[in-house]
Amino acid sequence: MSDAIQIRCLQTIGEREVQGLSDVLIDCVEGGASVSFMLPMTRAKAEAFWRTTAASVARGERVVLTAEDASGRIVGTAQVILAQPENQPHRGDLAKMLVHRRARRQGIGAALLAAAERRALSAGKTLLVLDTASDDAERLYGRGGWQRCGQVPNYALFPDGTPCATTFYFKFLHD
Ligand SMILES: CC(C)(COP(=O)(O)OP(=O)(O)OC[C@H]1O[C@@H](n2cnc3c(N)ncnc32)[C@H](O)[C@@H]1OP(=O)(O)O)[C@@H](O)C(=O)NCCC(=O)NCCS
Repeated sequence: MSDAIQIRCLQTIGEREVQGLSDVLIDCVEGGASVSFMLPMTRAKAEAFWRTTAASVARGERVVLTAEDASGRIVGTAQVILAQPENQPHRGDLAKMLVHRRARRQGIGAALLAAAERRALSAGKTLLVLDTASDDAERLYGRGGWQRCGQVPNYALFPDGTPCATTFYFKFLHD
């Protein structure tokens, strides 16, 4: 990955971050990613999602990472959801791994994944779980040492309404 890309862990999510993160989310959904949203993907839906996420970060429930280019523009993001039921204190969920289409295939996804794992471990997590409906993401997680559990057919929808299967992964974390 280029040295010009910086991975940051956001302590707070302000208006600048909400706008940059919304740009990435909208681009990914318009590009066909199955990441909770349907078309039409409006800016209002994206901003509402990131404002809710910002409040969750402020409560310490999750961490949000960003990848920024040399001009400070957000080009990618990933989250670790730390808040879990009391019988799963060691587990976190990896979520919303998103890289803008114009910034893909440069190693940003891999860098966000590695940073998310480090953050999860330093927060005391020893197990991460995720699900994905993306072949590109499946290769990324496989390269990162994640274990594929299996696939649930018809789990969700692509943004255009087509049903999609979802594949579940886990990874044990250690120093
Ligand atoms: C999945 C996703 C996050 C991957 O992001 P990315 O930044 O492109 O990931 P990487 O660059 O680390 O890896 C992608 C590919 O580029 C290749 N690559 C990495 N660095 C490279 C470089 N410098 N030059 C050429 N190729 C490179 C990788 O080997 C990989 O190849 P492969 O797809 O053939 O296996 C991205 O495709 C995305 O946002 N998809 C839409 C949202 C989505 O579905 N997210 C998953 C939700 S769980």
